[in-house]
Amino acid sequence: MSDALKLVIVDPCDRTREDLKQTLLSLESAWLEAECSRYEFFQDVVEQSVPDIGIINLDSNAEQAIALVQSVSEACPSCKLIVSSDSSDGQLILSAIRAGAREFINSPIQATDLVAAIDRINRQLGNGEAASKKRTGKVIAICGASGGTGTSSICVNLSTMLAEHEETSVALVDLDLALGATDVFLDMLPEHTLLDLVQNAVRLDLAFLKKSLAKHESGVYLLPRPVHLDEIPAVGIQEFSQVIGLMRAAFNYIVLDLSKSYSPLDIESLKQADHVLLVTQLDLPSLRNVVRILNSLRQMNLDEKVEIVVNRVGLDSGQISLKKAKETLNRDIYWQVPNDYASIVQFRNNGIPLNQLAPKALVTQSLQGLANRLAGIEPEDEARRSGFKGNWLGFLKQKQA
Ligand SMILES: Nc1ncnc2c1ncn2[C@@H]1O[C@H](COP(=O)(O)OP(=O)(O)OP(=O)(O)O)[C@@H](O)[C@H]1O
Ligand SMILES: [Mg+2]
Repeated sequence: MSDALKLVIVDPCDRTREDLKQTLLSLESAWLEAECSRYEFFQDVVEQSVPDIGIINLDSNAEQAIALVQSVSEACPSCKLIVSSDSSDGQLILSAIRAGAREFINSPIQATDLVAAIDRINRQLGNGEAASKKRTGKVIAICGASGGTGTSSICVNLSTMLAEHEETSVALVDLDLALGATDVFLDMLPEHTLLDLVQNAVRLDLAFLKKSLAKHESGVYLLPRPVHLDEIPAVGIQEFSQVIGLMRAAFNYIVLDLSKSYSPLDIESLKQADHVLLVTQLDLPSLRNVVRILNSLRQMNLDEKVEIVVNRVGLDSGQISLKKAKETLNRDIYWQVPNDYASIVQFRNNGIPLNQLAPKALVTQSLQGLANRLAGIEPEDEARRSGFKGNWLGFLKQKQA
């Protein structure tokens, strides 16, 4: 929780204060440091706890609350203030903003509005983008250069491996809306799908979000694709973005398994992502597609966050060499995943993730290395953590060379 934003709140009304508290308690990106039921004590609380953000509800006494906004923002400028009210009176909002509030949110506070406001403030805090990236969940979008290239296998296993680390919460979202099978790969029968969340995006809160996602024994929360094909058009892009915004607040990592159609929803996912892994194999049609996809993403200013992952390395002698692939793509290869049909097929057919099914297999260790690299964990740290002294460090060094 060290990366979380420290928050304090003041609201003399027990009911709305309690509602806000519940919302804040389920946010990964925020830490409720203190709550206050009297306006007159709030400034002391802020001075003592030095929070990043203070939330002031205006409704019990607007005049007193706005005077408080003014004095806190003058005395404690590092504490950015959000005000809330059930009134949308423009004059009231203007007074609060003039007094020093950064954001106004309508009360009762919806989690999506709060997350969006915190995110905006977060970006303005000190280190700008860097601060924001550190403090909210990372979105990792995984797309592929051709059908059957291995994106879903990588998504599912990467998710369970990221979730292995203590205090790391991970959600996996299946965006292959027609044919996605992440639920089968994890041997789960989730009750809710992406459609349910998107349709409820406006009134979505964190408690509902977490309740709607199915939790796998690995710790991964799964959000599967809709059940019926005719539900696909109902997955709205704007609502989907809201859901992802909220997920950023609830999870450390959100892994998105994209479809191969590069639909508007896939493109929105690429926009939302902090990291994009483009999975390819070493055959000519796939590599040509990588070039095309990278060119298209460049036109959308999205190519900089894209990393190339080569899957099924060593599949057969007819594969294009890595050296040739690098030359063709004019890009480094971020990661290589070895071919291991036996392990992958077992994982898919039995619904048991690789770290449980075949922890020592090279394909597992390679994916573990990829998860660590994305999480910023050095191979040496991981070896120390797990006490593992096998041959995978050598394997990773070779792969990263
Ligand atoms: N590293 C690997 N070694 C051997 N076989 C693999 C590997 N990765 C994936 N496969 C095989 O490739 C096939 C496709 O895998 P997967 O479903 O993960 O790909 P995908 O890109 O998500 O496919 P789709 O385009 O259908 O969504 C499966 O049969 C799987 O067993
Ligand atoms: Mg797939």
